[in-house]
Amino acid sequence: MAATKVLMVCLGNICRSPLAEGILKSKIKDSQNIIVDSAGTGAYHIGKLPDSRSIAVAKTHGIDITDQRARKVDVSDLDSFDYIFTMDEVNYRNVIALAENKVQEAKVFMMMNELQPGENISVPDPYYGGDHGFEHVYQMLDKACDVFINKIS
Ligand code: 4NP
Repeated sequence: MAATKVLMVCLGNICRSPLAEGILKSKIKDSQNIIVDSAGTGAYHIGKLPDSRSIAVAKTHGIDITDQRARKVDVSDLDSFDYIFTMDEVNYRNVIALAENKVQEAKVFMMMNELQPGENISVPDPYYGGDHGFEHVYQMLDKACDVFINKIS
């Protein structure tokens, strides 16, 4: 069976979406054929490691995200991925704006709607805040990824 492909998207692809990628990957069972990647709508940090604070919070939860490098989301992602989860409403609108047809549009979701359907809750951008913001982001993403992984199992 073909793999289910999931793309996590935020603005910089250095804080939230790398955490989302690492968290979801950590929940994949041996029996599941799921590929996870992440990307940003902005180009500021292409090629960079995740933010050191994301690396640190992932590490405290036993997840290594240092193999990740930032990239920009591309219109081809809307064909190659099955689920595209955006971290906030701005990311959502920017990815939807890339879509060239309804099939592509239908793959784009707000990540937190997995946990709280229809509420369009954003994962707050922790970039300009303190370390506690990263743990908060981790906890939000952990819960949303649990719901998603159980749903597709
Ligand atoms: P992210 O956080 O979208 O969660 O990766 C940000 C990272 C960098 C910037 C903004 C948000 N920035 O403006 O450089």
